[in-house]
Order: sequence, then structure tokens, then C-alpha cells
Amino acid sequence: MSRINIAIDGPAGAGKSTVAKSISRIMGIVYLDTGAMYRTVALKALNSGLDTKDAASLTNIAENIDIKIEYKSNEQRIFLDGTDVSEMIRTPEVSIGASNVAVIPAVRIKLVELQRKIAQEMDVVMDGRDIGTFVLPNAKYKFFLIASLDERARRRYDELCAKNTEHPSFEEVRNDIAYRDKNDSSRAFAPLSKAKDAIEIDTTSLSPQEVIELILSKINK
Ligand code: DC
Repeated sequence: MSRINIAIDGPAGAGKSTVAKSISRIMGIVYLDTGAMYRTVALKALNSGLDTKDAASLTNIAENIDIKIEYKSNEQRIFLDGTDVSEMIRTPEVSIGASNVAVIPAVRIKLVELQRKIAQEMDVVMDGRDIGTFVLPNAKYKFFLIASLDERARRRYDELCAKNTEHPSFEEVRNDIAYRDKNDSSRAFAPLSKAKDAIEIDTTSLSPQEVIELILSKINK
């Protein structure tokens, strides 16, 4: 039986997770947020006082880390060495760390293995940077979401403000996203890029609902 695999890639703030979550609910399939895995590796490095760019230390972490994904009421929870870290991985420091650890091949190899295993076992909509190009090159449906840097920074800034905790300025959020764009696109191994057969959608002036409808219309064609 062939699995339903939907790949949604793109830079930070392009709307991938909002859209992927809805598609998973509507289609009754699992949503896998692969960024959460890179964030979890970064959290472990930061908690251990390590530099997230240190390839030797991160390779060692990747070889020994215990990451588990569970679904509670259709929502992904991620566990680091037995602890639920789903909220802890959402800080700006972890975002930058995740982009740094994602450059290191041993980290990617370990996480991609886990991602492919899940896609073999379940029908999934998976979001990330390299899903259509590297993780699931044979996925039947591939989408690549983009949006202007300002719009993506505004979305991320609004999310951080809504959390009602201390948060960075708009300029800092924008700079962090620009840093990640460059870092994620320029790495040698499985960089952020659009698969040749992916459908590109510019979400700058679209509502999440419009993007969801557009994607569903392509899938149901
Ligand atoms: O999607 P996100 O913002 O949670 O991802 C955090 C970082 O993880 C992102 O800047 C780059 C990295 N990442 C990756 O390299 N490949 C993926 N498939 C998903 C995320």
C-alpha cells in the first residue's frame, strides 16, 4: 500500500506549520514538524553549555540523543531524553541554534532517518527545509511556501508578542530570520531549496485559509 506523503518546505515564517496542521486535520493524517527535531538537538546542546556550531560535540550529541515523537489529540509532542520539550524549543535562542546544528551532516543523517521511518509507517504531511528534495524525494505532493522577509518577521513577531512573555524587538526577529535564511540556504548538505517538481506558493498577501484551499485544490485535482 502506498503512503500519502505531502512535503511542505520553505523558509521560517512562510506559513508552513499553520497550513500543514490544518491539512493534517482535514485529511486525517499525521503532521510531522521536522524543525522541532533540529530545535530539540539545539536545546540539548545549549543545556549542556555547548556551541551549536561545534561539529564534534554535535556529532556526539546526535549519536546519543533520544528523541521521541508522540501525538496527543492529533498534536505533536516532542520528547528529549524522556522529557516533553515541546514548549521549551520555541525560544529565539533555540531557533538560531537549530539553524546552526542543522548544518552538521551527522545531525541531519540521524534526524532524516527518523523522519523517513515515520513517513513509511504513517500517512504524513511533513514540513521543513529539505523534505521535497532530500527526505521524501518521491513524495507525491510537494509545496514550497515563500513570503517576503518583512511579512515573515511580522508573523513571527506577532506570535512572540501573543505569548505575553519577554520578547525581542521586531528588528531582532527580522535579523534572526535573515540569518537563518542565509544559513539554511547556503549549507552544503541538503540546503533549503525548492524541489524541481514542487508547487511554489507566495503567501505574502494570502490568508492561511487561502493557502490551505489552494493546496487542497492541487491535492484533490
Ligand atoms: O521550521 P523551524 O523554524 O522550526 O526550523 C528550525 C531550524 O531547523 C531551521 O532554521 C533550519 C532547521 N531545519 C532544517 O534544516 N531542516 C528541516 N527539515 C527543518 C528544519
